[in-house]
Amino acid sequence: MAGGEMERIVLVRHIDGAPTPEDFRVERLSIPELAEGQFLAKNHFVSCDPGTRSRLSPGASYAPPLQPGAPVDGFSVGEVIASRNERFAVGDHVALTGWATHVVSNGRGYAVKLPDLGVPESLWIGLLGVPGMTAWFGLKRVAQLKAGERVLVTSAAGPVGATAGQLAKLWGASQVVGIAGGPDKCQWLRDVGFDVAVDYKAADFEAQFMAAAADGFDVMFDNVGNAMIDRALPHMKMRGRIVVSGQVADYNTPLDRVPGLKNTREFIARRLRMEGLVVFDDLPGFAAAQAELAALIKSGAVQYREEVFKGLASLPEAFCGLFTGASFGRRVVRV
Ligand SMILES: NC(=O)c1ccc[n+]([C@@H]2O[C@H](COP(=O)([O-])OP(=O)(O)OC[C@H]3O[C@@H](n4cnc5c(N)ncnc54)[C@H](OP(=O)(O)O)[C@@H]3O)[C@@H](O)[C@H]2O)c1
Repeated sequence: MAGGEMERIVLVRHIDGAPTPEDFRVERLSIPELAEGQFLAKNHFVSCDPGTRSRLSPGASYAPPLQPGAPVDGFSVGEVIASRNERFAVGDHVALTGWATHVVSNGRGYAVKLPDLGVPESLWIGLLGVPGMTAWFGLKRVAQLKAGERVLVTSAAGPVGATAGQLAKLWGASQVVGIAGGPDKCQWLRDVGFDVAVDYKAADFEAQFMAAAADGFDVMFDNVGNAMIDRALPHMKMRGRIVVSGQVADYNTPLDRVPGLKNTREFIARRLRMEGLVVFDDLPGFAAAQAELAALIKSGAVQYREEVFKGLASLPEAFCGLFTGASFGRRVVRV
């Protein structure tokens, strides 16, 4: 039924600080025979997600840490090539998890049969996958964005941030400010419709930020972590909402050295709300959101950048680049 060989990426050791490619290795193994109820998919694309970092060290995360020697999970998209599961047939296109060439699945967990929306396949682990859905539901359900509001987005040139900023404009935000590292990323943000792009690596960042924050923010969509939230807190408007999407600046730092929040008194006077999300809470709404977002992408109303690496062995390097600022857009690996 199955047979043949597959490759997957495993964690070599728990990571201290920033990840390096040597923290991972490629493991070759036989593809197991399929049991009743299982199917085998061949991955076409696998993604790199900053959130994976939080599971590569022992310590606090909302998901349990991986042990050394364990296969690493990331999102993937591919095609069913053998099946003993009545819901998944050979030829079906599927979104799954696994930093691997092949995935054996029982159809439970994150195993989604993909409709044909006429978009490039890799988008199913990009804007139509977890990053895009995080932006969509972070703004709609958590922030409850209203027309005319002012929005601040951090790590704005990444797939979550760039999608959030563009959706905020489409949904009526009066001003969207993006923070990103470097002039190229900031220029791209302006090109795709952000009103203001602030370069946090520039010498005059403080002045750029203060000018952008002069009229305050109703919504902060934060992908970076506590230091940026603390900086924004005094600039939040009455009944402002802070969406805690991710903490890419803090994932490599042990919990006892992660910056804290000092400006919490702003919550009282301005009745602020800060709320995190795990995007899978919104899974029932994915299909409708994906159809709407696919239409926006096809019309050019929402734009994206993608960096495609070749071969599973390039995954560790692609992943590590998320934490150095080397990545610009969604990083995927063509398997
Ligand atoms: N809550 C959920 O369910 C959920 C789901 C998916 C993703 N997320 C989170 O959403 C966030 C964005 O994800 P993404 O996939 O779009 O990745 P991303 O924002 O593209 O992440 C990589 C980028 O982060 C920035 N960065 C790296 N280190 C930084 C630092 N020390 N300070 C500031 N910025 C830094 C860099 O851009 P610059 O060059 O601009 O610094 C880098 O290119 C992540 O925190 C992720 O964990 C949450």
